[in-house]
Amino acid sequence: MKEKLRQITEDALRKISEAKTLDEINDIRVEFLGKKGRITSIMKELKNVAPEDKPVFGQLVNEAKQTAEAAVEKAKSRLQNAALEERLAQEKIDVTLPSVRRKLGHGHPNQIALDEVERIFVGMGYEVVEGPEIEYQEYNFTKLNIPEGHPARDEQDTFYITDDILLRSQTSPVQARVMERGKLPIRMIAPGRVFRSDSIDATHSPSFHQIEGLVVDKHITMTDLKGTLTQFAREMFGENTQTRFRPHHFQFTEPSAEVDVSCFKCGGKGCRFCKGEGWIEILGCGMVHPHVLEMCGIDPEEYTGFAFGVGLERIAILKYEIDDMRLLYENDARFLKQF
Ligand code: DAH
Repeated sequence: MKEKLRQITEDALRKISEAKTLDEINDIRVEFLGKKGRITSIMKELKNVAPEDKPVFGQLVNEAKQTAEAAVEKAKSRLQNAALEERLAQEKIDVTLPSVRRKLGHGHPNQIALDEVERIFVGMGYEVVEGPEIEYQEYNFTKLNIPEGHPARDEQDTFYITDDILLRSQTSPVQARVMERGKLPIRMIAPGRVFRSDSIDATHSPSFHQIEGLVVDKHITMTDLKGTLTQFAREMFGENTQTRFRPHHFQFTEPSAEVDVSCFKCGGKGCRFCKGEGWIEILGCGMVHPHVLEMCGIDPEEYTGFAFGVGLERIAILKYEIDDMRLLYENDARFLKQF
């Protein structure tokens, strides 16, 4: 009987040491130590053992059980460690491999130009305000001296949502909104998106951007307007830039002017860039019409003001020498990276 037990134990230890997977170990455990396992069932033979030998035999079976159990545990942890080692080896990261370059975005020429315009005017004490892109016709037209039925409404044909609500065709309605707030004096610029029902070509888009400017205070004159815009042109296009104010007509300013800057490519001699003119048009401006002040609740006897409107794309295209406005809306990173 002792010999049989020794044989079984030896068998178990050999199998355990040869096992290659945790599954195999489990099978071996069941074979020897399970309910009907070979070591477990040898206990049942206790009844055939002489009474005086029973304690010793019992102890031997217990020892065999413990030995097998310990061997199973040891084998389990050996196999678990091996599996872990193998996984770690497979997942090893080579930190010397070159990484994939992350592509960074790039500022849009419109945004770069706008940042520059804002920097210049904020430096002169202006605040930057925003107005809604969906606007009442009253702000977009009526309060700017363009009453219903006026032909000037057709010049800025835009997208109507209802008879009363439209996509703003200019940033000028922000003037009316700021004046109506009633806080004086006013020094503000209002950048933003505007809409017109224009077809797309190299110089037109149904959606583009403007920057509105407005100053209202006591004793504001045309001199302030000319000085301010000349200073702006110098900071934007170079300190030798000359300005030229040409009489023009806008409904909401009187007098009104269009402003040209001397060509910053040829200095005014005339070149391909300025189409031989020596001058490049950059914006519209004028003294705020007294009737507009009145409609917005400001006494024109006490206050005067000037206003201007700049096309942001126009400034960006000029400054960065872009020959087709459509490039600005394609979001091609190779194009954007150049500025
Ligand atoms: N809103 C005008 C336009 O879109 C531009 C403009 C001209 C704005 C003169 C002004 C201004 O504030 O004084 O054509």
